Amino acid sequence: MTTLIKDGTVVTATDMTRADVLIDGERIQAIGTGFGDADNVIDAAGRYVMPGGIDVHTHMELPFGGTFASDDFATGTAAAAWGGTTTIVDFAVQDYGHSLSEGLDNWLEKACPKSHIDFGLHLIVREISEPVLREMDVMIERGVPSFKLFMAYPGVFMLDDASIFRAMSRTADNGGLIMMHAENGGAIDVLVKRYLAEGKTAPVNHGLTRPSSMEGEATHRAIALAELAGVPVYIVHLSSRDALNAVREGRDRGVSAYAETCPQYLYLSLDDLARPGFEGAKFVCSPPLRPADHQAELWRGLVTDDLQVVSTDHCPFDYKDQKILGKDDFSAIPNGLPGVEDRYTLLWDGGVAAGHISPMRFVELIATAPARMFGLNPRKGTLAPGADADIVVFNPDTPRTLSAASQHMRVDYSCYEGREVRGCPEVVMQRGNVLVSDGQFHGQPGAGRFLERSRFGPGPGSG
Ligand code: URP
Ligand code: ZN
Ligand code: ZN
Repeated sequence: MTTLIKDGTVVTATDMTRADVLIDGERIQAIGTGFGDADNVIDAAGRYVMPGGIDVHTHMELPFGGTFASDDFATGTAAAAWGGTTTIVDFAVQDYGHSLSEGLDNWLEKACPKSHIDFGLHLIVREISEPVLREMDVMIERGVPSFKLFMAYPGVFMLDDASIFRAMSRTADNGGLIMMHAENGGAIDVLVKRYLAEGKTAPVNHGLTRPSSMEGEATHRAIALAELAGVPVYIVHLSSRDALNAVREGRDRGVSAYAETCPQYLYLSLDDLARPGFEGAKFVCSPPLRPADHQAELWRGLVTDDLQVVSTDHCPFDYKDQKILGKDDFSAIPNGLPGVEDRYTLLWDGGVAAGHISPMRFVELIATAPARMFGLNPRKGTLAPGADADIVVFNPDTPRTLSAASQHMRVDYSCYEGREVRGCPEVVMQRGNVLVSDGQFHGQPGAGRFLERSRFGPGPGSG
């Protein structure tokens, strides 16, 4: 079956041109003009035609903070598709005392029957031992070449520097990529206990006990350890000027340090955590939201390529039933925010429409760089003959109001409630199949495929 997307402005990371896109089956056949008839024709006049988004940081059904993230692979990937994201890379978790293979198998069991969109997996490694280090090689052979380590959450996920350095040294041999949650968990833990002892229990104290200096310190340490091991490192959910400066310094002296930020750090701030009553709990995530003056620096990092990716860290918890676990103790509020559905439009509206970045840089940040760095190219992340027909027809003029009432994520609030944005993914396609059109969802649970990824590839412009 052939589909022709006609008369749109086709945007890739390097070009923007008026053209038609011809799709044959699951793949793009050609981009140009004068293709004649097709089985289906989609009119894209006045629209941008862009690659489906790739969100390399999601947590569907993550067991965390005494509960589970509220989106599963069915609801979360449907919401992703509604928002223009056609591929996610989620984090499988190694349980204490268990192997990496078991963690991966558990996640495949959850994801395969449910996912509406294609997905890859990273592994969260909680324990380092000789057998675990050897298993990292096996994971890479199974298409999982990236491993998230934590410098925070003592007793839950945190690893010491020796373990981190051992894991990094292994990736020097096997070509894997370490992704780092960089916050100084030890110092933060002391502050948390001190604040609670002083009776400071409200949500804003989550932010005050996790200062940006401790993200900067851990980011610097992660990069120094990677430099010593002679490997690249990727800093996840970078939130602050301090951490960005550590990345810049590392890159300036030639270390392969890379980083992502997330929409919540570009648009929300400590003021949201400080909303009256318990409402601030809706905004509890780690690293925490920062004072608003960090945001301009993060935008600059996206322009200068010191930040290469925008992901979401989608990890939703219901306000009423789950965030409430920390009613009298901010440290018991489950950490994480919903976001997988909003990224595409938020980055377009606040990034392109607001004049921070070009449409081409938008595509680079939201699809092309994630595909390249996480081993999904050349099939994903761009529009080119032979690539998967993962395509968004985007109307930049549609006004929308973000709201819990209209979103598709399975969570009872929106971090952006009432925010007016322009831009709508009108048609969303995966491998030639229409997932969203005319305000209707046509996806199928289980239709998404597990993507075995190749090893890390920084590519031109990112190294
Ligand atoms: O608060 C967050 N970020 N929750 C998800 C887990 C993580 O650290 O990414
Ligand atoms: Zn993290
Ligand atoms: Zn995360």
